[in-house]
Amino acid sequence: MEFTPFQMERWQSTYEHRVDYNLSESGVHPLTVGELLAFAGPSADLSRVLLGYSQSNGTDELRALIASLHPGATERSVVVTIGGAEANFVGFWELSRPGKPVAVMLPNYMQVPGLIRNFQGGAQPFHLREETGWRPDLDQLESALAAGAGFILVTNPNNPTGVALTPAEMDEIVTLADRYGAWILSDEVYRGAEVGPDPVPSFWGRYDKVLVTNSLSKAYGLPGVRLGWVVGPDEVVERLWARTDYTTIAPPSVSDALARIALSPGVRPRILERTQAIIRRNLALLTSWIDASGGLFTFTPPDAGAISMIRYHSDLGSLELAERLRVEQSLLIVPGAHFGIDSTMRLGFGPPPEELLAGLERLRAGFAREPGPLRAMA
Ligand SMILES: Cc1ncc(COP(=O)(O)O)c(C=O)c1O
Repeated sequence: MEFTPFQMERWQSTYEHRVDYNLSESGVHPLTVGELLAFAGPSADLSRVLLGYSQSNGTDELRALIASLHPGATERSVVVTIGGAEANFVGFWELSRPGKPVAVMLPNYMQVPGLIRNFQGGAQPFHLREETGWRPDLDQLESALAAGAGFILVTNPNNPTGVALTPAEMDEIVTLADRYGAWILSDEVYRGAEVGPDPVPSFWGRYDKVLVTNSLSKAYGLPGVRLGWVVGPDEVVERLWARTDYTTIAPPSVSDALARIALSPGVRPRILERTQAIIRRNLALLTSWIDASGGLFTFTPPDAGAISMIRYHSDLGSLELAERLRVEQSLLIVPGAHFGIDSTMRLGFGPPPEELLAGLERLRAGFAREPGPLRAMA
C-alpha cells in the first residue's frame, strides 16, 4: 500500500516559514526562552543543564508536575515524549490490535487517522456534525464500537473546529466505551487554552481505560520545546515507555528543564493567563471580521485553541483557494480538504493582533479577486 503523507503537516512544514502571514498555525504566538525564564524569575538558570541523555521517560520532577495536574495520577502514570506527536504515536501503537478498527472522531488532527492507514488498520468514523455546531454523532460511534473498534480516538477540544465536548457528551462516550470494552485515546493539547472562564474537562478520571495525551505546544505557547506526555494506567504507561526506547530514547534534557519551569506552580498559571488573553482578544477580532463579511464567511465559534473552522460561501475548492492565497497573497491557511471538508478553511488566530489583521486583509483581498458572491467583501 502506498504511503499516505500527513497532508496538513507537509503543507505547513513546507511553507509556514516562507510566507508573509501564517494563519495556518493552531497555537498562540510562541514565547521566547527569555520570556519563559522571566516568568520564573532570576533563580531560573539553564547554564547548568547537563547536555547528556536525560531520564528517558522524563525526570521524576517533571513527571510529578504533570501527575499533579491529573487527580489520582502519580509519576508512574506519566511518560514524557517528544511533543504530543510522539505521545499520540506511542498511544496508537500500544492500543492498535490487528484486525480491530479504530473509532475515529472526524474531523480531527489527522495524525492518528494517517497512521492507521499507513499501518494498514481500519477506521470507523464518527462525525462532529457542522449543522449542529460540531456536536458528535454518538449513534455513529455506537455503530463503530459494534463493528469491533478497539479504541476511540478523540481530540478534545477538537482540532480543527476548536469546539469541545460537553461533560454530558463525554459521559455518553465513556458509557459506550465501557459497554463495548473499548479504550479511549484522548488528545487534549488544547485544554488550558479556553475562550470562556471554565476549563474543558479531561477524560482522565472518568474511565479506567483511558490514555490522555498532551503537550506544551498549544496552551503553553512552547511548540519548539517539543515536549509532550501521556497519562494512563501505570502498567500501560510502563509499556509506552518501552516503546519510546524505539522511537526517540529520551526527551532533550534542555526541554525537560524548560518544561519543569513552565509547569512549576508559580509559572504555569501565568503562561495560561497569557494564552487565554491572546485567544480572547484575537477571537473578538476574528468574529468582527467575519460579521463584516456580508455572509461570505460563517463559523461556529471555538471553545478553545487559537483555531476555527470557517466555511466560505463560494464554489472555489479549498485546495485551489489555499494555493492561490499562498502564491498571490503570501498567506498560509489550512484548506478544509485536509480534513475532508471542502469549502472550509482552518484559520489560526494566535499571531500578534497586527499580524492577524494584516493576514485577514490578505484573505479578503484573495476573495475580492473572484466573481460573484466572492466580491461581497471587496
Ligand atoms: C490535536 C493535536 N495533537 C497533537 C499535535 C502535535 O503537536 P506537538 O507534537 O507539537 O505537541 C497537534 C499539533 O498541531 C495537534 O493539533
